[in-house]
Amino acid sequence: MRDSEKNRSIGRVLSLILMLFMLAGMTSVLAACKDDKSEEVPVGPQDQGKPVIGLAMDTLVLDRWMRDRDVFVSEANELGAEVIVQNATSDAKEQQSQIRYLIDRKVDVLVIISIDADQLVDEVELAQSKGIKVIAYDRLINQANVDLYVSFDNVEVGRLMARKMFEAVPAGRFALMKGSREDNNVSLLVSGIMDVQQDYPDTEIVLEDYAENWSADDAYIKARRWLDDGHLIDGIFCCNDALAGAALRALAMHKLAGSVPVTGQDADLDACQRIVEGSQLMTVFKPIESLAQIAAKAAVDLAEGKEAPANDTFNDGKHIVPYYRIMPVMVTSENMADIILENGFHAKKDVYRNIPQSEWP
Ligand code: BGC
Repeated sequence: MRDSEKNRSIGRVLSLILMLFMLAGMTSVLAACKDDKSEEVPVGPQDQGKPVIGLAMDTLVLDRWMRDRDVFVSEANELGAEVIVQNATSDAKEQQSQIRYLIDRKVDVLVIISIDADQLVDEVELAQSKGIKVIAYDRLINQANVDLYVSFDNVEVGRLMARKMFEAVPAGRFALMKGSREDNNVSLLVSGIMDVQQDYPDTEIVLEDYAENWSADDAYIKARRWLDDGHLIDGIFCCNDALAGAALRALAMHKLAGSVPVTGQDADLDACQRIVEGSQLMTVFKPIESLAQIAAKAAVDLAEGKEAPANDTFNDGKHIVPYYRIMPVMVTSENMADIILENGFHAKKDVYRNIPQSEWP
């Protein structure tokens, strides 16, 4: 080979290597920004010796989940831990890969708000095999033997709905709009409703369906169909406030909003407004601050090798796991001030926004 040719081919090899380096660089930049659903805290456990917690969330669409995230992160930070938040935007497969990513990031503890209660056994096992502790937050992960399950008493949530509904309408035909079929809380809540229904032999659940992925749009379509088909319904059990809002929109299309009682849970601001205005019967207040603080403290304790705090146990279908149970509270127009305003969950001016000030409590 002549010198000039040799130089040219060395040049070609060098520029190829350079290109490969540039490509590798670009890929890592892309990987870093691939997930605009996530909030990265740029430290690893090895960087600062602080405990690092991975928080794998289902969604941030509802007000409550933003509150959960904010309180959890600020409590964990106060306790000296860093949090890496991932939001799977209601996509169960995405949640699996986000959890695997957090495991690769070598977090000390994983806190998971599961989308599909039956889909995370392998991820939990993988995490635990690497010494990472796992907390099931708000929703149980079935058969996964998590280190702690921290949640409200979800059976009681259903009981509270049914007590209020059947007190208002002790005999009649009811519809049940359940939440996501993959969320373990839904079956717990429904079992609470059935529990109370035994005391009301003249009531019947004549229609029921799931709102897939807790989608309010899906709930609206299904409730609308029930009503369009001419079913006479004396009350609609809705498994959360977003679904209650959807059911009320469907009822409004039939001029029935306000005359057919509707339940909910979460004490969302718009649900509290509907309650004082008279279109929604009740909601269930769940002290999110307590849940998030207890979970953050538990995560830090577990990261430091301490026992997880628990006040109960729960059968996950295969194992008995430690459970920290928090009690929910019924909210109606009568106790709105005591339960929701008193503790600052919502402000009076917001809840009563659509009511003339002369009628405020
Ligand atoms: C929670 C509810 C929430 C629903 C939808 C359930 O698991 O318990 O508070 O409204 O998920 O996100």
